[in-house]
Amino acid sequence: MYQINDNYQKLPGSYLFSTIGKKVNAYSAAHPEKRIIRLGIGDVTLPLAPAIIEALHGAVDEMGKAETFRGYAPDLGYDFLREAIAENDYRARGCDIGADEIFVSDGAKCDSGNIQEIFSLDNRIAVCDPVYPVYVDSNVMAGRTGDYDSAREVWSNVIYMPCTADNDFVPELPKETPDLIYLCFPNNPTGAAVNRSQLQEWVDYALKVGAVILYDAAYEAYITEPDVPHSIYECQGAKSCAIELHSFSKNAGFTGLRLGFTVIPKELKCGDVSLHSMWARRHGTKYNGAPYIVQRAGEAVYSEAGKAQLEEQIAYYQKNADYILNGLKKAGYRVSGGVNSPYVWMKVPEGMTSWEFFDCLLEKVNVVGTPGSGFGPSGEGYFRLTAFGSYENTVEAVDRIKTL
Ligand SMILES: Cc1ncc(COP(=O)(O)O)c(C=O)c1O
Repeated sequence: MYQINDNYQKLPGSYLFSTIGKKVNAYSAAHPEKRIIRLGIGDVTLPLAPAIIEALHGAVDEMGKAETFRGYAPDLGYDFLREAIAENDYRARGCDIGADEIFVSDGAKCDSGNIQEIFSLDNRIAVCDPVYPVYVDSNVMAGRTGDYDSAREVWSNVIYMPCTADNDFVPELPKETPDLIYLCFPNNPTGAAVNRSQLQEWVDYALKVGAVILYDAAYEAYITEPDVPHSIYECQGAKSCAIELHSFSKNAGFTGLRLGFTVIPKELKCGDVSLHSMWARRHGTKYNGAPYIVQRAGEAVYSEAGKAQLEEQIAYYQKNADYILNGLKKAGYRVSGGVNSPYVWMKVPEGMTSWEFFDCLLEKVNVVGTPGSGFGPSGEGYFRLTAFGSYENTVEAVDRIKTL
């Protein structure tokens, strides 16, 4: 008789965004006349930029001709894309990362969920609280997190690093020593960012205790302040202790197209075992490469035209973030994030839980956001709004919230 992976049975509830989706669909079915504005899930809304569409068309045509048809892509990504990434995201910023240290994939969700596979089940993870749920859930599935305490909403074998208003939503170094440290800056969900010296402290700490930092830079394109690093490899020593995850979803609107990459420097080693070789082996066995046409689209992100067009798209979302942040601030709400990030993190009114505020916004002003408690216990009492809607909807949503 077969047995299942029991760890899946330990996962509490359904995935946060499924729960939100169900609530919104139920409300919408009961009130079809209401126009709901969705500032909940972090999905982009602007169409792909013209330079990307042109690259896609070109690549599709190539696939239709015998001379230029491509079959399986190289496991780790086409050189043209790996080179463009290494040049633009790293060398241009003074980071010494080679094209062969870049692993192209179909997105940062898969990579951030899968990367734990190359580490021992005995490793202890540390996560920010609140946190992007994938880091914890993928470790639950693997059996690394211990038992769930449903009253406290925490796992017995996870080190939680609270990020609250008291520490400006930047975690302090943990008291217990972790083996794997998940960090995401600019942060989802809080929108907080760290400056170079703050991130250097984490790198120094990881080197000291022999931990690996899994650094999610999915929102790097939203950084506006000069002392906020775009990559962890801007910090000294990071190549010996950090893996960096990237996405094309938020900087270039690839949420539906799917493309991302992970950087594992060759000098990142556990004893004499190279993590780069392990991930290459894993990719070779379990992954057959992102589609050629999508990798050509990714290359166009780094063309002159692509860069200019995407700068405009990001500026559009940044204007939304600014409107939410300042609009709610003027209305008396305590808000943060939104400066180096498309997310604004707001404190819910006194006496309400995050989910009560969710229901209140949905029912009274027909605006959808994300309850902070869905990201971890320290998210209770907070609420996330995203800047990925249209400007008109963003303005209307904020104006509706102000009427509460
Ligand atoms: C922190 C973080 N990492 C990764 C992702 C997923 O990125 P991708 O679309 O590349 O899978 C998201 C998406 O919301 C995210 O917030």
